[in-house]
Amino acid sequence: MTIKDYIRRDLLNFKPYHAPLKPYDIKVDANENPFSHHPSVIEKTKIWLDNKDHLTRYPDTDSMELRTKLADFYQVSPQNIICGVGSDQLIEYVTKCFVEPGDNVLVPDPSFSMYGIANALNHGITINYELSDTFEYDENMIVRLCLEHNPKLLFICTPNNPTGSIISNEQVLSILKKVSCPVVLDEAYDEFVEESMVSYIKEYPNLLILRTFSKAFGCAGLRVGYGIGSEDMIEALNICKSPYNLPSISSAIAGFVLEEEDYYMANVSNMNINRELLYEELTQLEWLKAVYPSKANFILIKTSDEDTNQIASY
Ligand SMILES: Cc1ncc(COP(=O)(O)O)c(C=O)c1O
Repeated sequence: MTIKDYIRRDLLNFKPYHAPLKPYDIKVDANENPFSHHPSVIEKTKIWLDNKDHLTRYPDTDSMELRTKLADFYQVSPQNIICGVGSDQLIEYVTKCFVEPGDNVLVPDPSFSMYGIANALNHGITINYELSDTFEYDENMIVRLCLEHNPKLLFICTPNNPTGSIISNEQVLSILKKVSCPVVLDEAYDEFVEESMVSYIKEYPNLLILRTFSKAFGCAGLRVGYGIGSEDMIEALNICKSPYNLPSISSAIAGFVLEEEDYYMANVSNMNINRELLYEELTQLEWLKAVYPSKANFILIKTSDEDTNQIASY
């Protein structure tokens, strides 16, 4: 017998998520933020590191300090917030918490691959709902599919990775009014559009909003994500949370970053301006089959390489 003989049958042909590190001069291919951190963040981090207990002791299992800062920021209670090792971990928690083997989960297509991966690891069945030719969401189709497939979870991503398209708050609301299953609204790139649904978590206890410090706040290496939802929703997710999940250093630096919001949002404005300039330039390139407008910090293009019909995001 080998290890392979013991692996779950359904995982034998499963391809693990792999993003190869290539030797670029400027690396932003995972939609990162290339700007340096605010000097006060670096200064506070150095002081934080001087306290040896900060590294030798386990972190607070509840990440209370960061949750309190986030709660102040969003005008909600810390009980409305859960922190994760990137929002990736919260995608795992939400599937673990709600999906039983054979349950349906609705996922946009094309979109972020982790929804399907987390669902498959959890024995769920992924039902893709397609975006339009120009990658718009069709809220009526989503509601229809919910009624038809009775999913345990509905994922929506806005701005959507990799298309950069968005769903409006009105569209999300019209879905929330008609479906009762947990709705996961992934707002990983929301700072680039500033049209969040956070204020609706009180009205819709089935709404979970996922956000991250990895994109606009330039902390991809720290792996800090958070979910905002009703107290019931957060209590449910806590059932699946591993203890001490968020490293102390990650929550401390995320807190310092939050204190300099204006600086990071100025960088976001800068990126938005440059995205539009890049979009204009790309549309001039004849060898590109299509360049799609984006509301995030990346642009989806379709190359004219007929062999692979490759879609790449820049
Ligand atoms: C739409 C979306 N959601 C979630 C994530 C995960 O972000 P993180 O785990 O770094 O918070 C990403 C990362 O690329 C993403 O594009």
